[in-house]
Amino acid sequence: MVYGPWTTNSKHTMSILYTIYLIASLTFILGLKMLGSPKSARKGNLIAAFGMTLAIFGTIFLYEDAAGYHLRNLPLIFGGLIVGTGIGWLMAKKVQMTAMPQMVSFFNGMGGACAALISIIEFRHMTHGLASLPNALYGEISGEIATRFAIMYAGLIIGAISFSGSIVAYGKLEGKIRDKVLPAQQVINIGLFLGIVVLAICDVTGVLKMDTLLYIVLGLSLLYGILFVMPIGGADMPVVISLLNSFTGVAAAFGGFLYDNKVMLIGGILVGSAGTLLTVVMCKAMNRSLLNVLIGNFGGGAAATGSGEGPQGTVKSINSSDTAILMKYAKKVVIVPGYGLAVAQAQHVVHELEELLEKEGVEVKYAIHPVAGRMPGHMNVLLAESNVDYDKLVEMEDINPEFATTDVVLVIGANDVVNPAAKTDPSSPIYGMPILEVENAQQVIVMKRSMKSGYAGIENELFYRDRTSMLFGDAKKMLTELVAELKALD
Ligand code: TAP
Repeated sequence: MVYGPWTTNSKHTMSILYTIYLIASLTFILGLKMLGSPKSARKGNLIAAFGMTLAIFGTIFLYEDAAGYHLRNLPLIFGGLIVGTGIGWLMAKKVQMTAMPQMVSFFNGMGGACAALISIIEFRHMTHGLASLPNALYGEISGEIATRFAIMYAGLIIGAISFSGSIVAYGKLEGKIRDKVLPAQQVINIGLFLGIVVLAICDVTGVLKMDTLLYIVLGLSLLYGILFVMPIGGADMPVVISLLNSFTGVAAAFGGFLYDNKVMLIGGILVGSAGTLLTVVMCKAMNRSLLNVLIGNFGGGAAATGSGEGPQGTVKSINSSDTAILMKYAKKVVIVPGYGLAVAQAQHVVHELEELLEKEGVEVKYAIHPVAGRMPGHMNVLLAESNVDYDKLVEMEDINPEFATTDVVLVIGANDVVNPAAKTDPSSPIYGMPILEVENAQQVIVMKRSMKSGYAGIENELFYRDRTSMLFGDAKKMLTELVAELKALD
């Protein structure tokens, strides 16, 4: 798509389109900013979606190329839009909160595939156009051609890696694909990546002339995406998804370069940088480097047991009626939500419990670990769904000093994020990961179904401590019982 010497009328149309692109870009930035708080996130998402719709329809109806042609193939474009919107809407409506990370991964994979397809199609357009170019003119613009080829290859490689990597990530989170580490996996990966880059450079510089080179690079990039994600441990998947998300953004930005389309460029850069920032934040929350996440194989399915000695002591269990009494007479209760709360869909009943306790004059807060659940913000979204006041959600750094003055901590379906081994056992795979220091409270009640481990596959010494009692059962069932007991105490 080359912008050229339009007629006055066309120039007028294009300036309207550019204004639309500017508005759309502003909505993306505003939307992203509003996603920073649960209060404004829904509105922010809608504002950015509105901007995207504006940019899409603006392009379809207003874009004119240098020769004054509008976009053709409208039935095909609208057919794709209707089918894609229908599938996306249905998937988003049906998805469970616990399956959100895999859906994000799947959608991200589709974005990567789009970026790769753009490169393939533009490559074909260009090679077709170049074949009819006189040799003298070819020489004059060879630098520009090489740049466009380089951009195409960048979009193709990154988009293809993002596509196949995201689909493997989706399969792993769905439990359909298992972690697999090949012998000399890192050497194979590095070799494959270097091979891809060298082949692409050969084509861009004209060192190797082969019509099929693009497809070889495409195949190798798809393979690289699979091999890159395959060995990464299950519990690290959200970090990888976020990294792949940034890849898709960068690939889309290359598409924007290719088409000289500002809104695509800005959108791609925003996704790329937001994905990168999120990756960094998640690594920081787990106190691990990105390299360690990518090659460390943390939580990769095999039971990791830390020092191997196992926790010492006995486990005390408690029933719901004693727990209700403890909570009713407490001054301050902190609730720690985890993945199990999401699985049990217990967000509404936990809010009911909170309201009952507050009626009794108990101060109630929620302690939010940055990686509780299976994706960042998982717990915030879940609790927002049941109208828990945002001010009651307290971040890890702020709540940790408060545990010492807390009478009862109720841990609901959380495990790794409250495991003291992260501070005390250097051989533990979660050693160094910041945790919620619930063990400092007067009483800790852990609500879960059994003594089974969490995602990282390690035992939790907290369950054996003197101040800890286990309230065994499904989170929704036990919370419903607690609510009933509290009501009966009135
Ligand atoms: P987990 O450590 O996975 O523990 C969840 C616990 O919930 C399990 O031990 C399970 O025990 C219990 N559970 C499951 N279903 C339940 C139900 N229906 N009712 C009651 N309990 C139930 O969760 P977490 O503490 O939230 O930690 C999250 C994990 O993900 C961490 O390992 C973290 O490192 C990892 N991770 C997260 C991220 C992001 S971005 N969020 C990134 C990387 C890694 P039972 O089977 O005995 O019930």
